Amino acid sequence: MLKELKIDEIYETVITSLENEANGVCKINGMVVFVPKALVGEKVRVRITELKKNFARGKIVEVLESSEKRVTSKCPYYEECGGCNLRHQTKEENLKFKKEKVENALKRIGKIDAKVDDCVPCFKDDHYRNKVSFKVEDDRIGFYAEGTYQLVDTEYCLLAENKINDCLNVIRNYIKSHKNKIKNVTIKHGNALDEVLIDIYSLSNDDMEILDYLTTNIDNLKTVVFNDKVVYGTGYINQISNGLMFLCSSKSFFQVNDVQTEKLYKIALDNAKLKSSDVVLDLYSGTGTISCIISSHVKKVIGIEIVPDAVLNAKENLKINGINNVRFICGDAAKEINKIKEQIDVIIVDPPRHGVDRKTIAIMKKMNPKKIVYISCNPVTMARDLSYLTDLYDVKKVIPVDMFPNTAHTECVTILKIRN
Ligand SMILES: C[S@@+](CC[C@H](N)C(=O)[O-])C[C@H]1O[C@@H](n2cnc3c(N)ncnc32)[C@H](O)[C@@H]1O
Repeated sequence: MLKELKIDEIYETVITSLENEANGVCKINGMVVFVPKALVGEKVRVRITELKKNFARGKIVEVLESSEKRVTSKCPYYEECGGCNLRHQTKEENLKFKKEKVENALKRIGKIDAKVDDCVPCFKDDHYRNKVSFKVEDDRIGFYAEGTYQLVDTEYCLLAENKINDCLNVIRNYIKSHKNKIKNVTIKHGNALDEVLIDIYSLSNDDMEILDYLTTNIDNLKTVVFNDKVVYGTGYINQISNGLMFLCSSKSFFQVNDVQTEKLYKIALDNAKLKSSDVVLDLYSGTGTISCIISSHVKKVIGIEIVPDAVLNAKENLKINGINNVRFICGDAAKEINKIKEQIDVIIVDPPRHGVDRKTIAIMKKMNPKKIVYISCNPVTMARDLSYLTDLYDVKKVIPVDMFPNTAHTECVTILKIRN
């Protein structure tokens, strides 16, 4: 009979694989244990921190035999902070991990045996995020420690663009010298004109007094949103991608890594092999980036997006870029897709992390498009959704793109073609 694991007890073990979120996996006394920041092949001493019915979690106490893929993280907050979790492994191995993550999801969840391309690397490993949300507690600002609500006070974040770290510093100075009830600060940087958007959520309207401090101390502050109201500026920032300009408000989605966004959209466009006669449906269209970028290659595009601000941005983006063959519909994709009258040749679908609901997939299939381009930031839900399409469609190409270096996350473009 195997001895039961105990909380706080320390065990020696060897890590056999990494799971989806890049936690090390091992078995101790017959129980699966997940160990953050442990690498395959490493012999480690692990303290059990959490016991569940079928698995446990542990923390490394000591690495007894280190992997040759292990590197030292440059981030001073890495041990505690939950902001990123793959800084302790080489870039090459991280890219391999992301490719395998997509392969495994397709095989295990989607029951799809497709060739997956190598993950497209990012030139910038740090300072690539154009949007970061920070938690605030009294005079501290930063991120929660992994899997907890314990705030880790961070002076800067290696993932954030430098301009965002400059703003973080200004906000930090403010909260150190002013009593406040601010809870959350989101900072976005627009690459077109080096502008900043700051969105603050506070439990007290008295904290509006931060506005003067921000306007005095931040260069190129374009807009401030306080408790969901635009209190300074136009309400949006400007982003350039793939040669076009996009307005983006606080609540509108925009890809977070400018360098990889260009590549992602180019990969999607190149592999979609669109025709000038094509009518394309862009599901989950956000600020209309994909619709705008493909518009000059096709006859017509229809975008569907649920966030009203994003649709307003998207409509404005058509004007800014002189595009007149695109129409945007504001609403839930599951409902609005039913109202489309046109014969759709290609569907481009770029859903949030939880993927596409079954009803929408069923209607997509009824529309009988020749091609579906599925763009995803979550290989697990992508694989599930693809499994509902593969009775009628063949998976032709799967291309992971490293949108989020130094984290376990990956973006992925999949091209599906109708079976003849
Ligand atoms: C991953 S983003 C993609 C946005 C856009 N394609 C881009 O590349 O920037 C997913 C988008 O889906 C939108 N969304 C989420 N649920 C939706 C729904 N039920 N119907 C329509 N859009 C939805 C989100 O607001 C977000 O803009």
